[in-house]
Amino acid sequence: MTTRRDFLKTATTAGGAAAAGLAWPGALAGAEVRGDPTRPQPTPTRPADGPPRRIRLLILGGTGFIGPHQVRYAVERGHEVTIFNRGQSAPGMFTGVEELTGDRAAGELDALRGRRWDAVIDNSAARADAPDWVRDAAEVLRDQVDQYLFISTRSVFADLSQVPATVDAPLLTRETTRNWSEGQPYPYGLAKALAEGEALAGFGDRTTIVRPGLIVGPGDETDRFTYWPVRIERGGEILAPGDPHEDRIQVIDVRDLCEWAVRLCEDGTYGTFMGVGPENGRSMSEFLYGIAGATTAPLSWTWVPREFLAEHGFRPYQEMPVWRPPTPGFEGFARFDLSREVAAGLTFRSLADTTLATLAYHHGRDAERRATLRAGASAEAERRVLEAWHQASVS
Ligand SMILES: NC(=O)c1ccc[n+]([C@@H]2O[C@H](COP(=O)([O-])OP(=O)(O)OC[C@H]3O[C@@H](n4cnc5c(N)ncnc54)[C@H](OP(=O)(O)O)[C@@H]3O)[C@@H](O)[C@H]2O)c1
Repeated sequence: MTTRRDFLKTATTAGGAAAAGLAWPGALAGAEVRGDPTRPQPTPTRPADGPPRRIRLLILGGTGFIGPHQVRYAVERGHEVTIFNRGQSAPGMFTGVEELTGDRAAGELDALRGRRWDAVIDNSAARADAPDWVRDAAEVLRDQVDQYLFISTRSVFADLSQVPATVDAPLLTRETTRNWSEGQPYPYGLAKALAEGEALAGFGDRTTIVRPGLIVGPGDETDRFTYWPVRIERGGEILAPGDPHEDRIQVIDVRDLCEWAVRLCEDGTYGTFMGVGPENGRSMSEFLYGIAGATTAPLSWTWVPREFLAEHGFRPYQEMPVWRPPTPGFEGFARFDLSREVAAGLTFRSLADTTLATLAYHHGRDAERRATLRAGASAEAERRVLEAWHQASVS
C-alpha cells in the first residue's frame, strides 16, 4: 500500500507538476496509464478537511450551463478565475473574472500562451472535434498548468453489463462504435472517449477525468429533468413510465458536479471518476415520489409498462425523459458503484433540493419559455396515452 508520504517522495523524484506535493496516491496509477483511459486505478482518499488551497483556475468555456456554477463556486472559495471562450454566448457575465477570447474550432489559443495556472477545467470540448480540441489545448497548456480536468460523459462506455458498474468499464473505441465508419464525424460518446485519450497523452499523471451522467438542476436549458418537477407540480393523474422498482436513475445535480470539480482542483486529485449519483441510485418510484415530496398539488400515479408505452410512441429519454430502463449490455447504466468518487469528495444534494432549485429556475423564466418545455411529452399526448391504457385495462 503506497502511503501519501511514499507517493509524494516518488512524485518529487519523478519531477513535474506532481512534485508540487498536491497529488494523491491515485495519481501514481495515473502515471502508468498515460494515454490509456481503460486501466483500473486504485481508490484515492481525500486529504483532511481544512481551508481550501487558493488556486489560479482556468476554465475552458464558463458561460453555458455548467461553467457558471464552477465560476461562482471557485470565486466564493477565493480562487483566481480565468475563463476562455469565443465571447459569444455571454460576454461580461461575471465581474472579477478574467475573460480570454479565442475559437477552439479555429485553433485560436494564443490568448492562453505564456500564462500559468494551477489547474484547468475543460468543459467546452464536447463536439465531434473534441479530440482535436483537447490535443491542441494540451500542446499549449502542457507546461503552463499543473492539472487538467476534463469534463467527459457517461456516454463513453461500450459495455456497462456489469452490475454494479464502475468507471473502469470498457470504453468506446473506433472498432466498437456501432453505426459509424472511418471518415464520418465522431459520434458524441466516441469523440469524448478519444478526447480522454488525448488528455492522458498530453497531461499524463496530471489528468483528472470526470464522466457525468445527465446533469440536472438550475440553468439546464434542455428541460430533461425539469419536465418531471414541472409535470408533478401541476398535479392530477401522472403517467409514470416503466417498472417502479427495477428501472433506476443516476443523474447529477449541476451544483454537486461543479463544486466537486473545483475541489478536485484545489486538492490536486488525479484519476478518472464518474459524475453521477446518489451512491446507490434511485428506483423510478423513489425518483418520482421524491420529487412529489417537494411539491404540494394533489396527484395520482398511473404506472404504464414499457411495452405499452413503446406501442404508443413514448420512448425512454425522449417523451419520458431521464427514464432509461436497462437494455442488454447496459444493465449497469444507472447502477454505478461510487466508492471511489465519494472517497474523492463527491457529495450529493437531496432530490428535494434539486427539485426546488429547478422549479425556482423554471419559474424565473419568461412565460413563453415556461410554456414550451424542450423535453418530455405534451399534456395532450400524456392524456391520450393514459386514456388508451385505461381502455386497454378494462377490455
Ligand atoms: N448536459 C449534460 O447532461 C451533460 C452530460 C454529460 C456530460 N456533459 C458535458 O458537460 C459539458 C457541458 O458544458 P457546458 O456547455 O455546460 O459548459 P460551459 O463551460 O458552461 O459552456 C460552454 C462554453 O464553451 C464556449 N465555447 C463554445 N464553442 C467554443 C469554441 N469554438 N471555442 C471556444 N469556446 C467555445 C462557450 O462560450 P462562447 O459561445 O462564447 O464561445 C461557453 O462558454 C460538455 O463537455 C458536455 O459534454 C453534459
